[in-house]
Amino acid sequence: MPTLVNSTASEPIRSPVPGPVLGIESSCDETAAAVLDAEGLVLAETVLSQQREHSPFGGVVPEIAARAHLAHLPALVQDVMTRAGVEFGALAAVAATAGPGLIGGLIVGSQFAKGIAIAHGLPYIAVNHLEAHALTARLPGLTGGPDDVSFPYLLLLVSGGHCQCVAVEGVGSYRRLGTTVDDAAGEAFDKVGKLLGLGWPGGPALERLAASGDASRYAFPRPMLGREGCDFSFSGLKTSVAQTVARLPSGALPVQQAADLAAGFQAAVADVLADRATHAMRMMPGIASLLVVSGGVAANQAVRAALARVAAAQGFRLLAPPIRLCTDNAVMVAWAGLERLRLGLLDGIDFAPRPRWPLETLGPPGAGPQGAGQGSP
Ligand code: KG4
Ligand code: ZN
Repeated sequence: MPTLVNSTASEPIRSPVPGPVLGIESSCDETAAAVLDAEGLVLAETVLSQQREHSPFGGVVPEIAARAHLAHLPALVQDVMTRAGVEFGALAAVAATAGPGLIGGLIVGSQFAKGIAIAHGLPYIAVNHLEAHALTARLPGLTGGPDDVSFPYLLLLVSGGHCQCVAVEGVGSYRRLGTTVDDAAGEAFDKVGKLLGLGWPGGPALERLAASGDASRYAFPRPMLGREGCDFSFSGLKTSVAQTVARLPSGALPVQQAADLAAGFQAAVADVLADRATHAMRMMPGIASLLVVSGGVAANQAVRAALARVAAAQGFRLLAPPIRLCTDNAVMVAWAGLERLRLGLLDGIDFAPRPRWPLETLGPPGAGPQGAGQGSP
């Protein structure tokens, strides 16, 4: 079993891992499994979206999600293990998302992982979903791996459930610089998508529609622009789009008008994210020079372009992982497990999943169990 050596250095010495790691993700509406080799190269991965199950309801239904994870996880895990050519007994550890997220799915994924760990005498690692997003940037094959993406760096996490700027100071060591005071960016895309009759989730369809729109036709507000710190707010922007739509003649929106609304909204979100990221970069002067963007909204090209512009202006390198690694997946969970395993950061089989589990409560390596007793609902 690996042990933590020199835990006080910002990049502690890591022990080699004796075999592949299995990762399981089930915190929201993606059921995913992946196997990485001891170096972190992906041997096999799969993501099963539950979009079809939830879209009639216009959002994720927790009970449906939990049942779908339960129905699909065994076959998905067997599939990645077979394709990776790895026997369960040859794994170095099993890692599963243990929070934050929907409790039903978290219970399904972590109980499944614990069952495998117990049956094969393997270490179990409870992965914080946000930490998994945060550490993805260090995945070998994506860049030069941990040597290329060293701590500290800045993370902008923009998904359906989260919108925050985080100083990533080490495995288990995070400082939240700012967060949304109301909706997450992806949530705003989904709500505006619904207003424009685009179905759920709204983000990808809204981006496609915006491509033929004129962003200057509607001047939507840019909440928090220029405000000190790097908190976010999107509900006023969403309300402004709703009020604009309400003032239009009733009936289906003409396609061009819908495209212009979509483009105007998307431009406002991109401006806000770029401004907030600029403030976050200024909060780490001379400390960090890398901005990582992750989460489903990082798939948006207008957002990526705006972030690339401001990162360059601040002398930061921008790293936007490929879209399949920005959205929920199990590669990031297995990788976070591997990073923890290298530091000897294992969890007890009694680790209870946590629907709420802020990153700051994880505690740095060597501080004991992950924020024991904290982050419970
Ligand atoms: O990270 P993710 O897959 O799941 C979590 O929320 O954890 O993010 C999904 C969110 C949804 O709100 C979706 O509408 C948004 O990301 N999204 C996008 C795009 N693709 C996904 N938003 C804007 N533009 C996109 N291309
Ligand atoms: Zn996520």
